[in-house]
Amino acid sequence: MTRDADIDQFLQANTFGDDPYGAFVERSRAGGLPEIQVSAVFARALELFVRLRRAQLIIEVGTLGGYSAAWMARGLGDKGRIVTLEIDAHHADVARQNLDSVGLGERVDVRVGAALDLLPTMYDDPAICGHVDLAFIDADKENNANYLEHVVALARPGALIIVDNVVRDGAIIDENNSDPRVTGSRDVLKLLGQHPRLSSTALQTVGTKGHDGFAMAIVDA
Ligand code: SAH
Ligand code: DHB
Ligand code: MG
Repeated sequence: MTRDADIDQFLQANTFGDDPYGAFVERSRAGGLPEIQVSAVFARALELFVRLRRAQLIIEVGTLGGYSAAWMARGLGDKGRIVTLEIDAHHADVARQNLDSVGLGERVDVRVGAALDLLPTMYDDPAICGHVDLAFIDADKENNANYLEHVVALARPGALIIVDNVVRDGAIIDENNSDPRVTGSRDVLKLLGQHPRLSSTALQTVGTKGHDGFAMAIVDA
């Protein structure tokens, strides 16, 4: 383990202890899923953001094995739910198994498809449109700006939007880097700053996942 990963472990051990969803990571690994879920300390921060916001409806773009979804579901009130979008049917199956194994299957609606196809269907759902309290964008980075526009349109004023992986070891400031994952992150940062309805910032992170970062924004009234 790297020193930064050791430090994550230390911070976790002191501030919240065992990971209630550690078995998700094992099961996802056994199922051949890439190990790119958020770190435990970041997942815990997501739970605390959900509680702070008193969120009842969350949209997640990018489910993988359901790890971040489980942590966010943990912070939801009694009637709260998460709609999480995943393009890979196998990832979605593993996520459903993981979520069912801890009794969260009822609260998390895993939908299979390309997020750019699924998000527009939500405009017609009166239970979703205008009611989203929190969104976590963590899928294919090239579409981040489009995902941001959709979740802003679906959000309630005061909603919190979090976008993962916006630093990528600093690749973000390398103008010669034309990797679509990097340009997608750059595009979403630009949109966050220019969007008339958003108050935004972004923070760098170090830890088990190396040097990266996340952006956050509140949807103004
Ligand atoms: N949020 C998860 C990690 C998500 S990894 C966690 O922290 O636990 C990114 C996921 O996005 C992968 O499972 C990938 O299959 C999915 N994905 C990639 N492109 C997508 C698309 N166009 N629509 C929906 N999901 C997509
Ligand atoms: C990758 C994707 C992620 O969402 C992440 O947190 C880390 C890595 C990737 O595609 O490499
Ligand atoms: Mg990510």
